[in-house]
Amino acid sequence: MKALLIVFLWVTAVHSWNSCSDEPFCDRIRNGPVIQSDFVFSEGYMVNPSGVLSELIDRNTNRTYPISISAYEGGIFRITANDRIVPRVQLEQVLDDPALASITLTNLFNGIQINSGDSYAIIEYSPFRISIYKNYQLILLINDQRRLVYNSDADDLSIAVDFTFTDATTAYGIPLHAERFSLQNTGPGGLEPYRLYNVDHCCYDNFIQDSLYGAEPVLYGHSIRRTVGVFWLNAAQTFVDINRIPYQVESLFVSEAGILDFFVLTGPTFDDCAIQYIKLTGPAPLQQYFTFGYHQSRWSYESQEDAETVLRQLDNYDFPVESIWFDVDYQDGARSFTWNLTAFPDPVGMQNWMASTGRRVILIIHPHFKVEPGYFVYDVASANGYFVKNPNGTDFVGQGWPGDSSWIDFLNPEARAYISSLYLKENFPNTTDNVYVWNDMNEPEVFDGFERSWPRDVVFYNYTNREVHNIFSFSQVKGTYEGLKARYENRKRPYLLTRSHFSGSQRYTIMWTGDNNSTWSHLQISFPMCLSSAIGGISNCGADIGGFAGNLTDELLQRWYQAGAWIPFFRAHSTRYVERREPFLYPPDVRTRLRNAMRERYYYLPLWYTLFYEHERYGRPVIRPMVYHYPSDINTHDMDNQWLVGADVLVCPVAEEGVTSIGVYFPGGSSEVWFDMTNNLMYYGIGYYSVPVTMDSIPVFHRGGSIIARTEVHRPASDLMHTDPYSIYVFLDMNYQASSTLYIDDNESFDYRDDPEAIYPGAVFTIDSVLVYRPPTTYKQAVTRDGTKYDVVYGDNNTYAAIKNVHIDVGREMTIEFV
Ligand code: NOJ
Repeated sequence: MKALLIVFLWVTAVHSWNSCSDEPFCDRIRNGPVIQSDFVFSEGYMVNPSGVLSELIDRNTNRTYPISISAYEGGIFRITANDRIVPRVQLEQVLDDPALASITLTNLFNGIQINSGDSYAIIEYSPFRISIYKNYQLILLINDQRRLVYNSDADDLSIAVDFTFTDATTAYGIPLHAERFSLQNTGPGGLEPYRLYNVDHCCYDNFIQDSLYGAEPVLYGHSIRRTVGVFWLNAAQTFVDINRIPYQVESLFVSEAGILDFFVLTGPTFDDCAIQYIKLTGPAPLQQYFTFGYHQSRWSYESQEDAETVLRQLDNYDFPVESIWFDVDYQDGARSFTWNLTAFPDPVGMQNWMASTGRRVILIIHPHFKVEPGYFVYDVASANGYFVKNPNGTDFVGQGWPGDSSWIDFLNPEARAYISSLYLKENFPNTTDNVYVWNDMNEPEVFDGFERSWPRDVVFYNYTNREVHNIFSFSQVKGTYEGLKARYENRKRPYLLTRSHFSGSQRYTIMWTGDNNSTWSHLQISFPMCLSSAIGGISNCGADIGGFAGNLTDELLQRWYQAGAWIPFFRAHSTRYVERREPFLYPPDVRTRLRNAMRERYYYLPLWYTLFYEHERYGRPVIRPMVYHYPSDINTHDMDNQWLVGADVLVCPVAEEGVTSIGVYFPGGSSEVWFDMTNNLMYYGIGYYSVPVTMDSIPVFHRGGSIIARTEVHRPASDLMHTDPYSIYVFLDMNYQASSTLYIDDNESFDYRDDPEAIYPGAVFTIDSVLVYRPPTTYKQAVTRDGTKYDVVYGDNNTYAAIKNVHIDVGREMTIEFV
């Protein structure tokens, strides 16, 4: 074991990661002498109902580029300049078919003005520059610094544009980086720019601009007055500089290839911007209910007996769990869509047994396949040209889990459809109705490649890796999602986890933050990583609970479970090279705390489910940085050590060793109150308080004005909770009011989409208690609509008024009146 660990660390240590200075195109554009470009927007434009078409003329080269400026519904502009000389990739598939909006056009002295709703764009002809206004305020300048670059030489297809957020003091977004939520200043002579190029970057350092597993090129500039976004639709390697200067944020985007294509999200609020981005890239579909529970994983559930024992032990020790995850170990020689039948003699029996306990099985599937005539996937894929190619037309071969491997070209619709079809039950041997999927290694990772990646000139369907690298995994997960949908004949919502991702991946998959370390620092960085991911469109994010690499103290593990219970994807996972750490392996006091953290998660499953439903419907992220709801409070602007789940739950994890109190920031001013229902305390929203903590839990607060429905019966799995009663907690605001939504459906089908008001026969919705916090002291009884009366009891010091141990059927319409 120890020897293997050393080898593993050595492999990661010798890796170097490219930055802008190592990439000639970026080094030239960003670090070389600043050469102001000279572009002109041709006056010979044409107008259509939603935009303007014209030519962009590069006066230095005399090349012309067709350019369009169009408006999309919801306050969005798009600027696209294509290339006539070299055909370039268009990424329309990344978009979720956003709707165009109508415009009006006005001629100006040196340009035109395009109005759409309460926003307009002024395009100046020469020098070419675009200014975006919202409600008559200037919010963004494009090419103000004349850094626009459009190279169209066969060996240099790089492009660049500068953006100035004219009313911004902080910048957020462009995940995935191991970075604070609020982005740092970069710039020549200072930090390297943020890099977006999907790579496996195991055990990454923190607070760095290096590439990680996924890329969502959306950047937000924020001030106390507004938020504005830029979505750079480009799947090539991209570098982004951030320069925060007083009251402005300047940014330079430099891409190695691709057309110039970007969107401006005009806000004006953070909420508006996040929704505008989802209008473009699509919401995540609501996942099945079980997916929001606790998941147990480890690289090395090597045999059926091992996996079954893990589940049995979790049950023996009363830990709730939804699924067991099977890493590369279950496969026959790392061949995807096969089983190692020696180690797993009865996969079907195992899956059926797990299903009988209300649990699912999640199987890893890779994008690379063993080069081995006779292996059915290899035979079909090689015969049909489904693998990516070398420039000379032969199949690209590199090192993957099975040794010599080739990678499916998921951008080829036929190849993608073939792999999709392998998820069908009849094509995936030894699988049952109880199987979901985990797509790993899909940046893609190539063990023997530079940066564990492909050469840039690997050839895809139509394009090279240089141009489309960052949408490889997007194309794969699209196929997997479709395959799973077909597998379940549209009856059940697919469930899929991916390591690599791009804008729009949320339409198909959830993600995790890859191979982290078992350190306090990696626990801390997981919060901003998932918050950035959420405003990058992928709310359903999580970090390996406990960290992937390294052993950890019991204290860190407990804190990780406690915090992880408040991050959307809640899965414990680790490498095979560390000690086993299933929760039942710990001493009784640790077990109790881990179990309590998991139970807390289960109390709030109705909240997670409701928020993800609302995400699909309205586009809001599910976990939100403090600045999202308190944008004009400057104290929130750099805050990422506490966050909001929805709008109403404030989570303050303990992410340091030996802590007995933590500073919690309560936002909202003196008219807002926050409730600690564990200790029956109330805090006004007027800033920092030092809140005592023990090892038993982390501070969580409810906003006055909200209501929460919890399910509090302890069950082994969420499947067994569907008829459990709800306990309702009402947190009254200063005006003695509170409201919230609870969303309930059948937990697994797509019926909710056909009819948002659907009634689910057999669904039970009962209430077993109602607690009203900060109540008037005069309540005596609670009376339901049908006239039933219940006695009201008060908690200590009148902190709450309650009816308990009741059984109120809430069917379709019900009122409970406290009088
Ligand atoms: C890399 C993944 O990031 C990790 O989670 C997994 O355990 C290993 N691959 C082995 O498959």
